[in-house]
Amino acid sequence: MKNRQVTTLVTGANSGMGKATAMDFAKSKAKVIMLCRNKQKGEAAQKDIIQESGNQDVHLHLCDFSKLDDVRQVGRIINEEYDFLDVVVNNAAIITTRRQETAEGYELQFGVNHLAPFLLTNLLLEKLKASAPARIINVSSGAHSFGKIDFSDLQTLNKRYRTFKVYGQSKLANILFTNELVRRLEGTGVTANSLHPGAVSTNLGIDRETGFGKTIVSMLKPFFKTPEKGAETAIYLATSPEVEGVTGKYFINKKPVETKGATKDEEVAKELWRISDELVGLNREEIVDSWGRFV
Ligand SMILES: NC(=O)c1ccc[n+]([C@@H]2O[C@H](COP(=O)([O-])OP(=O)(O)OC[C@H]3O[C@@H](n4cnc5c(N)ncnc54)[C@H](OP(=O)(O)O)[C@@H]3O)[C@@H](O)[C@H]2O)c1
Repeated sequence: MKNRQVTTLVTGANSGMGKATAMDFAKSKAKVIMLCRNKQKGEAAQKDIIQESGNQDVHLHLCDFSKLDDVRQVGRIINEEYDFLDVVVNNAAIITTRRQETAEGYELQFGVNHLAPFLLTNLLLEKLKASAPARIINVSSGAHSFGKIDFSDLQTLNKRYRTFKVYGQSKLANILFTNELVRRLEGTGVTANSLHPGAVSTNLGIDRETGFGKTIVSMLKPFFKTPEKGAETAIYLATSPEVEGVTGKYFINKKPVETKGATKDEEVAKELWRISDELVGLNREEIVDSWGRFV
């Protein structure tokens, strides 16, 4: 329990579990920073959250995760405009059925689901450490078990584009990123955990441009959790005293669960970090400079 207001950040806060998480934080009187890519949808969600929670301290920043310059820019703004950062929920993600690329030419699911939160989190680390105890929550998925980190073809250029393999790779990357982050954060008071929310009825899998996938998602709705139920584990990890100091774990239904195979491989996690660092152009100067002195 801190004797000041807690500052929380949620990515993809306009929809599904991100919105439910931001709503919960707002209701608990935290300061809420919402990162969204679409101004109209972001403002509509911000309005809903302020109205329902009665908390005016809910702030919207636009950031498209398929553009690393947007991520750098929002990292700089957050470091400049907010005194503290106690919780980061890396929630935004996509599933795509065909190969597309980010502004930098990286495969879209790898870029949005892994590289963008990798960069954002690194840019915010000094602020988190200065606010410690602080918590990072990475929303992964059980789909990580379909994935393999294919270092010979991380961008899925040379093999058939199999949606769930590519999505699975990005969600496995979330867990490996969490594990390596934990090693690097030892002794700082900043914890990092990942989670699978279950099967949840959200907009995931619906093509935002064509609406493709809408019918199947609405057919599955009665069998899936609501976004509010789905967000419970992320909220638990962000707020519960029960997990104070707990780090490096993967949770399902608010319980730590053993992961297998590639998730445990320290060498894979280290190599993924090294390559991600190269791909996003991260370096020590940039992290330090990003804290108010970014050029
Ligand atoms: N739903 C499930 O059954 C399930 C299962 C396992 C794991 N998950 C994980 O749960 C998390 C939340 O997903 P959800 O189910 O709540 O899906 P959702 O309703 O589709 O929400 C995804 C959020 O990510 C945002 N986003 C997508 N592309 C982006 C980009 N380029 N830049 C910035 N934001 C972007 C979306 O913004 P727009 O609205 O503007 O597109 C939206 O706010 C994801 O990490 C997902 O992998 C979900």
